[in-house]
Amino acid sequence: MSVVPLEAVPLELLRERSSVKWRRYPDDVLPMFVAETDYPLAPAITAALTRAVELGDTGYTSPASGIREAYSAFAARRFGWEVRPGAIRTTGDVIMGVVEILRRSIQPGDRVVVTPPVYPPFYDAIPEAGGVIERVPLLYDATGRYSLDLAGIETALLAGARAILLCNPHNPTGTVHSLQSLARLAEIAEKAGAVVVSDEIHAPLTQPDIMFTPFLSASDAAGRVGFAVTSASKAFNLAGLKCALMIATDADRLRLVRDLPAEVEWRTGLFGALAGVAAFAPESDGWLDSLLAALDRNRLLLADLLAEHLPGARYDVPEAGYLAWVDLTELGWGDNPGAKILRDARVALHSGKAFGGEGRGRVRMNIGCSPEVLTEAVQRIGALTSRRRTPSQ
Ligand SMILES: Cc1ncc(COP(=O)(O)O)c(C=O)c1O
Repeated sequence: MSVVPLEAVPLELLRERSSVKWRRYPDDVLPMFVAETDYPLAPAITAALTRAVELGDTGYTSPASGIREAYSAFAARRFGWEVRPGAIRTTGDVIMGVVEILRRSIQPGDRVVVTPPVYPPFYDAIPEAGGVIERVPLLYDATGRYSLDLAGIETALLAGARAILLCNPHNPTGTVHSLQSLARLAEIAEKAGAVVVSDEIHAPLTQPDIMFTPFLSASDAAGRVGFAVTSASKAFNLAGLKCALMIATDADRLRLVRDLPAEVEWRTGLFGALAGVAAFAPESDGWLDSLLAALDRNRLLLADLLAEHLPGARYDVPEAGYLAWVDLTELGWGDNPGAKILRDARVALHSGKAFGGEGRGRVRMNIGCSPEVLTEAVQRIGALTSRRRTPSQ
């Protein structure tokens, strides 16, 4: 089936946006750091938010906003996962959900496994919940694929770690964990009496040729040990509107979510819920397919651009999302090449080091933009290498 092309908003209009992506740096910088995208909203979201503004519908969010039903239907259509609306509660954002679930799943001082390189706020969320970070880095194989170090996680759990904060799909590598590895993770966690909190915010951005497995659906054990936290905010660019979903299918785990302080649910933003209902509705499926096609084009374009302009760079095409993890160690630009790139090429990337020590010499590049912006960014960075060579030529 052919999809309608999704064009990014023109750069001069993007520069009128007031979000952090467009306000942190001056106009000569191409911002490709924070995970916001440059596309217009899905039409159903624009309609829902416009109507709310017209009505002055800006009060508190009703627990009956419809977002739980909308996500349940979305998960069935897109992931083949049957999850009851009753298994879902909302809060303001994914990290809030992660913190509140972890806080009540561990004792202060308990160790919580993370799998670096990983989304930097995980390193704040765990201490905020009272936990201590235990690092079990992802494995990287000769085919350029990352995977969970299941033996390493098992060792950590048997030595007393009480929880795993999973990122699936994984930020920054774009890895979609396999059904087998998730089922094995659940088995390991159950044997050790640990819980798994699965951050699935990038799941709607899984490319169509890849199978995304919601952690809770990976096996019966996964349902027993797990929680999932997700949102429409990455795929549909709604981060400022504050609505995320906390999901548990096991009766005891669900009780923990339901027993969270009422304030946790009250933090849900009304615009976030309204936009989320529209995002997860069947009428937005076509828009999401168009977005995936645009991202597919960009993830392949980036490989070509790097080969042409930065042949020393190493990049494995992500399976999901719009974040590219690029290894620049061969260029000799030090631990934090993003600093040089910002200073000399005027392109703002996310520093790899923020994702853990494994990120030294690497950058995370947001490719949720037009092909023209992506091309210009890589050309600007590539020009630094020829500039460096010029004096000795
Ligand atoms: C893995 C992951 N989790 C959570 C978030 C943030 O989500 P929220 O704003 O809903 O806390 C992001 C944002 O990029 C992310 O990549």
